[in-house]
Amino acid sequence: MTASTIAELEARAKAVIPGGMYGHQSVKMVAPGTPQFFTRADGAYLWDAEGRQYLDLMCGYGPQLFGYRNREIDAAYCEQLSKIDTATGPAPVMVELAEALTAQISHGDWAMFCKNGTDATTMALMVARAHRGAKKLLVATGAYHGSAPWCTPMPAGTLAEDRAHMIQYTYNDIASLEAAAEAAGEDLAGIFASPFKHDVLVDQELPDPAYARRARELCDAAGALLIVDDIRAGFRLARDCSWTGLGIAPDLSCWGKALANGHPISALVGSEIARNAATQIYATGSFWFSAAPMAASLATLKLIRETNYLEHTERLGEILRTGLAEISTEAGLNISQTGPVQMPLIMFNDETGARDMGIGMQISAGMVSRGIYFHPWHNMFLSAAMTEEDIADVLDAARGVIKAL
Ligand SMILES: Cc1ncc(COP(=O)(O)O)c(C=O)c1O
Repeated sequence: MTASTIAELEARAKAVIPGGMYGHQSVKMVAPGTPQFFTRADGAYLWDAEGRQYLDLMCGYGPQLFGYRNREIDAAYCEQLSKIDTATGPAPVMVELAEALTAQISHGDWAMFCKNGTDATTMALMVARAHRGAKKLLVATGAYHGSAPWCTPMPAGTLAEDRAHMIQYTYNDIASLEAAAEAAGEDLAGIFASPFKHDVLVDQELPDPAYARRARELCDAAGALLIVDDIRAGFRLARDCSWTGLGIAPDLSCWGKALANGHPISALVGSEIARNAATQIYATGSFWFSAAPMAASLATLKLIRETNYLEHTERLGEILRTGLAEISTEAGLNISQTGPVQMPLIMFNDETGARDMGIGMQISAGMVSRGIYFHPWHNMFLSAAMTEEDIADVLDAARGVIKAL
């Protein structure tokens, strides 16, 4: 590989890929120097197309829960691939996975599989509408539920009509949730809730249990469905649906990203009450029934049940958060670290306490140049493949970057 490989790839990409790159993995909006193309990944690490190594604090934007190329998960994938994968009908592993997933997720009585998170959230929307023929869905302002016309954050190519029946509320604000439910009235089909507020560019917020309870009550009162979108946080906060710990059972939960540790599969899991509506909707895709990602997901669920990955990532997250707080305090830098420690959002403020994206971009660029793939405005993810030494490397890099500021 020559030193110009990434620049060359970017130039070639501009000719044949709209914008040179699109979607959440485009590096146009992140820190300068963040590489666009990678050629290798293993465990906690990524190598860019020029051979530089990074500790990857993004974990592929979430899918890597046990690290890249986890040997047990990939062996299950390859074993299934050697027998049957995308075919005229599903393999028995589909039933096994639905059994394992509904055994793992306490509110779950059935599961439907698809490919991306957007497939699962869109299916949730359809099931909620089919459930009692109602139209309105409540969504928190700023929450991400995917890239379909009803939920994409960028309006180009969509119509106002695509969102005509979406009503916004403010996350964790009971009065605004009640007002949105009142506006929907008899036509309330469901409420979408993120497990915690993990919007980009703003501090993350854990759910207020009273808000979560109210969402459940409002759905019960209207006969509407409560939907927890666990695509990003699923199995990172709990070995069950993320709201189970709050004592709230949703009717539907959406899963993706970490479900098969990077292999392409997502799922909609539902309770008995939503089964009839789920039976009625037409939802499918050429690759939705592929067996190899299902085998990878079964192996991932086994690791979720049998290893201490969750406690491990929480411990690493605590070390990271404490270390960064100490380094920032010593340097007189105002840092904002929010959300669960294993899914940290790290941003910076100026002396007055106001958010300063400029500092965040500089720090992010410095971290990337020191071999730590760091994101300036999206929550990051820790994986079970990371070690205390890796976190020590992150802290060393941060010390160097902050000193150089
Ligand atoms: C909470 C949440 N919901 C839905 C999605 C959409 O998932 P996908 O990109 O796999 O379609 C995402 C992706 O980031 C997400 O974070």
